[in-house]
Amino acid sequence: MTDVLLELDDVRKWFPLASDRLFRREREHVKAVDGVSLRVRAGETLGLVGETGSGKSTLARCMTRLHDVTSGRVIFDGVDITQMSQRDLRPVRREIQMIFQDPYGSLNPRRRVGSIIGDPYAIHGVGEGTDRKRRVQELMELVGLNPEHYNRFPAEFSGGQRQRIGVARALALRPRLIVCDEPVSALDVSIQAQIINLLADLQAEFNLTYVFIAHDLSVVRHVSDRVAVMYLGKIAEVADVESLHATPRHPYTAALLSAIPIPDPELSDRRERIILRGEVPSPINPPAGCRFHPRCPKAQDRCAGEEPALVSRNGDEEDHRAACHFPVQPGERLSAANGERP
Ligand SMILES: Nc1ncnc2c1ncn2[C@@H]1O[C@H](COP(=O)(O)OP(=O)(O)OP(=O)(O)O)[C@@H](O)[C@H]1O
Ligand code: SF4
Ligand SMILES: [Mg+2]
Repeated sequence: MTDVLLELDDVRKWFPLASDRLFRREREHVKAVDGVSLRVRAGETLGLVGETGSGKSTLARCMTRLHDVTSGRVIFDGVDITQMSQRDLRPVRREIQMIFQDPYGSLNPRRRVGSIIGDPYAIHGVGEGTDRKRRVQELMELVGLNPEHYNRFPAEFSGGQRQRIGVARALALRPRLIVCDEPVSALDVSIQAQIINLLADLQAEFNLTYVFIAHDLSVVRHVSDRVAVMYLGKIAEVADVESLHATPRHPYTAALLSAIPIPDPELSDRRERIILRGEVPSPINPPAGCRFHPRCPKAQDRCAGEEPALVSRNGDEEDHRAACHFPVQPGERLSAANGERP
């Protein structure tokens, strides 16, 4: 059996809406994360994909306890950390780190990178003076930055180098889990691969576990062992990366896969492109039943009334789970189901 490092059990994160309070008896909420159960195994990379607003960053912040959850449980290394006080969380915080999308926005422009990277040491009282400086310079070297640039400011670095600063800072306390929230989305394509390779090297060297968040499946495919697909605050499908690509079961996953560009024009012409109708509904009042039903090419009456559980079906591996009453069959053409031309 594989060790589970992080477990989410029916996690919800609802944000109360500030407006309308005086006029409504019941307060409305943005149901950003609405009942997510997931396991992250030690040493793996779990990819997390979904359209903008699907709740990926909110879920990331629940995992790292940057958000208190509305309900459900967060279990790290066998310990329930859901209600832990800030004080009790201190040792846990060393083990769980985050890397953010915007490598510039998350770095204070008026501070020198040496002290930025050394922040975790200052907060956790690790090393002092020259010892701390030496540790920071070792980290800079590890992530491919010139240690002599210790006294420079963030603006003196390129986008890719700034993300290396973010990586160094996340790595400072030798965490076990790093949640990477779109770490390469803001970077030039040519730089993206460098950062991804750096993350892969560090994972191997330090036996790290990653949750890797991205908008689409094309980046996630190359870095993940398993992938979870999010839609409107819920997990639509989760599977190892090969099964997800070979036999997507959830129509939403199939649509996301069909949107990945294929370089070969002949293959690309033959491939079905599934166009979803409509927009993502509001997470304030998500659709009843399966929340994908207003956009789903396979939707039937049952879908609007009964919420599908996230389970393994059709003889799939136990680990391949989809929340769909009518899972996609291999070779099935969904655009036909939709009444659209392929
Ligand atoms: N602090 C907050 N207060 C109120 N609503 C929030 C807050 N944070 C997020 N939301 C809402 O929760 C929903 C999910 O947002 P979230 O940022 O988690 O999505 P995301 O999948 O990370 O999107 P993106 O791909 O754009 O980063 C959105 O409707 C968003 O507006
Ligand atoms: S449960 Fe129904 S609406 Fe939801 S994804 Fe499956 S077929 Fe589509
Ligand atoms: Mg986000």
